[in-house]
This record gives sequence, C-alpha cells and structure tokens, in this order.
Amino acid sequence: MPIAIKFERAVFVLVLTFVMCSVSGAIAMQKLRSAEFFEWSDTWYKTTRATTRSSLDLRSINESIIFVEAELDKIGVAKQEQVMEIGTSSIEQGIQPDSSPRDWSWGFWPAVPLYPYGRRRTLRFEVVKDTIWTFDQVQGILYTVVPIRMTVVKLKAGGLLVYAPIAPTPECIRLVNELVMEHGDVKYIILPTSSGLEHKVFVGPFARRFQNAQVFVAPNQWSFPLNLPLAWLGFPQSRTHVLPENSSQTPFAQEFDYEVLDIDLGRGSFAEVALIHKRSRTLLVTDCILSVPLSPPAIVQLDPYPLLFHARDNALEAIEDNEANRRKGWQRICLFAIYFRPSALEITGLLQAFRNALKAPEKSKKAYFGLFPFRWKENWKQSFDALQGNGRPFVAPILQTLILPQASRQVLNWADKVASWNFERIISCHFDSPIEVSSRQFRSCFAFLEKKTAANQDSSSSQSLLESDSEFIKEIEAFLVKYGIATPAKEKV
Ligand SMILES: [Fe+2]
Repeated sequence: MPIAIKFERAVFVLVLTFVMCSVSGAIAMQKLRSAEFFEWSDTWYKTTRATTRSSLDLRSINESIIFVEAELDKIGVAKQEQVMEIGTSSIEQGIQPDSSPRDWSWGFWPAVPLYPYGRRRTLRFEVVKDTIWTFDQVQGILYTVVPIRMTVVKLKAGGLLVYAPIAPTPECIRLVNELVMEHGDVKYIILPTSSGLEHKVFVGPFARRFQNAQVFVAPNQWSFPLNLPLAWLGFPQSRTHVLPENSSQTPFAQEFDYEVLDIDLGRGSFAEVALIHKRSRTLLVTDCILSVPLSPPAIVQLDPYPLLFHARDNALEAIEDNEANRRKGWQRICLFAIYFRPSALEITGLLQAFRNALKAPEKSKKAYFGLFPFRWKENWKQSFDALQGNGRPFVAPILQTLILPQASRQVLNWADKVASWNFERIISCHFDSPIEVSSRQFRSCFAFLEKKTAANQDSSSSQSLLESDSEFIKEIEAFLVKYGIATPAKEKV
C-alpha cells in the first residue's frame, strides 16, 4: 500500500479519535462544573425551550448526568479489579500503604481516554526537604505507560503552589491535603502549557477541590475541534488568569520567575512555561526536556502488567515477572513512547498477527486476545542505549522535528533566558525526576536548532539520538507538510 494512503488512514483515524475525545471531553468537563454547570444548563435549557418548545426536562438532564457518572464509576471499578488481580510489588519509596482502589477513582477519564482509565494510583515523593514534592501517576496507550507528574512547592509565607495538576483522585487529594495541613492551603495553580491536553484536562477539576486557589494559565489557550473558552472546559472563571507577560506582576514573583515559550503554529499554539523556584534552585518544565531512566519508575511498577506485556520479543513468548523482564519492558515502552515506531521494531502483517494470536500463551481480554503484532530486532538495545544516554536530558524527537524548528530563534532566546537562571535540578512532567543538571546542560539540549560550529559541536553530538529511530517522525512531518497541515522547518540559526 502506498505510504501516502497509509498515512491518510492513520491521520483519519487519529483525527476521528481526537474529535470523539474532544466532544466527550467537553461534555465530561461540563459535568465537573457543578453549580456553574447547572446555572449554564439552566440558561441553555430555558433558551432552547423558548425557541424550540422542546419538552425536555432539566431534571432529567441532571438525572442523566448522575446516571452516567455512576456508570463511569462502575467501569472504573471493574478495570481496577482487573489490575488488582496482577498484584502489586513493594517499592523503595513513595508507596502509600493505606491506599485502596476507591481512592484511585478518576471518573472523568472519558475526557481524555488514556490507560489506566478510571483508576489512577498516585505516589508522592519529597524532592527538596520540606519544600518540593512531586506527585506521579501513569498514562498511556496500548500499555505504553509513562509517568505524568505534578509538582507542589511550599511558599515562604505559607501555602502551596501547584505546577501542572494531575488527576484529582481521592488518593491524590488526600496526599495534597496532608501537605495543606502542615504548610497551608493551595494558593496558586499553574497550567504551564497551551497544547498539552493531557495536562489541561485536570486543571479545572483540581482547582474545584481547592476553592481558595488562583489559577494561572499559559497564554493562547486553545482546544480542538472547537475552540472553547476555558470556562467551558471546567476552569473556574472568576479565579482563572492568563500569566502576565511580565513575570514580576504575579503574586508569587518574589519566590519564582518564569519564561513562556509561545510558538504560533497557525492552527494553534505550542506554549511551555519554564518556572524556577529561586530558593531551591529548581526548574520546573512540562514537555520540552526529558531524561530516560534505565529502570521503570516506581509508579510504573505498581502495576507491572504493561511492562511484562512489552517485554516479549514476539506474540508466542510467555513472560515471567522478574526484575530483568520489567526493565526490558520499560526500555521498549520508552522507545515506543518517544519514537512511536523505532527502527528496531518490525510490524507483523495482520494475517500473521491473527495466526500468532491463536498460538499465544495468553489470550485474555487484558492481553488483547493474544494479539501482539510486533517483533523486536536483536539490535533494539542499541536504540535504547542511545536514547537513554546515561540519563542526559534531551528534547523529544517529536518536538525536535515538528514543533521547535518552526521558531528556532524564538526557542533559542527562550532557552538562553532560562539558562541565565541559577538552577541545579530540573523537574519535568514526564519520565525521570528530578534531573540533576546545570543551566549549561539545559542550554545544550537546544543545540540541534543551531548550525554546527566548532563551538557547539561537542554539545550537539552529546545529545545525539540514532537518526534511524526518528525516521517515522520524519515521515509524519513530510506528510503533514505535503498536505499543508504543517509548514517546513525554518532555517537553523
Ligand atoms: Fe505532557
């Protein structure tokens, strides 16, 4: 099949999925708005009734919402019961022993329907003593699970600042409230991205649990397919503000500074807010910097099934739960999550995949009925070693290829400003945390945007990933440019 047709189909499926997610998301988020929602629905109802003479009863709408919420909850419970069958392992830190499945409930998972759907565990870690804590959950597609992270910083005058909230499950809220009891209420909540739906979706529901918090968002927020106002996405209207261009104008300016990277992509913007907590010399970023750990993070090991699923070389292999297999599965998940289709991965034909499924040792629903249409080449570990690079920070290839080269000069100016701050660690919203790193190392992550010179050659080569692994992302770029969805990368600086 010609590659363009394959792409067309893939893009069609992606767009269709996204449209469905966005519509269901907008509806689900509306439900989160409780009093404001009912006020809105009341107005909508009255208007609709006046204009259409509909016999629709508002009470029945509200009853329907309660019914749907109950159904979502049941689905979540069923899924978590599956997870419980697998069992959990003890881990060195971050475990919350008094946690129960009801505590993991996230009823609005259809808003962005990612694994593990309606039940999300949360682990809290203290990064800087009595000052900074991270909260990890997992999310992914087809068992490609990676951490998603929220960071909480204690304010000098009392109270907390929350950067990039995660799903406000009862467990998550309990863990935050333990800090509230000791250090004061949540005062500020930051949404540090305009395009990262996986972060944006939690901000409204999280903010509603902390009624005294002011919400600050990155500029130029947008949603797809309809560009809805933030209030329609569940944000508390009276408490939500766009981060001022001048960072000294925020109420937390004494302790923090920030720099916003805001790239206009034509059909929306890519924004990332780098926020520094000056006293602890800690930089918070969202998606722009990653570091890949050799072993699976603790939050991913709470349910090892996805690790073991991906540890198999092919569909016919039975897999044992041990440390080596968990690590192997994690390393392959990283290749999937970062490259989508790494060079060491072979996709088996549909017919072969079904034949293999018939012979697979596990054919349960959880194992996708034995379907595993992949075969790893022997050199897969070389790809992972290049990706992992002894934990050095880097920019994800999807951003290196599709987003940041759209505004190289702007990105480098932003990176220069951030690198002028005095920090010694980065907390990113994904993969490893914290990353012990200097501002010089941070700046060198963006050398791919610069023409090679004698001065920057060393730093750019130290970031190098295998070119062959990024080929699929380059094919996506070529397709998007061909059909006018993206513009070609700008000249290097
Ligand atoms: Fe993200």
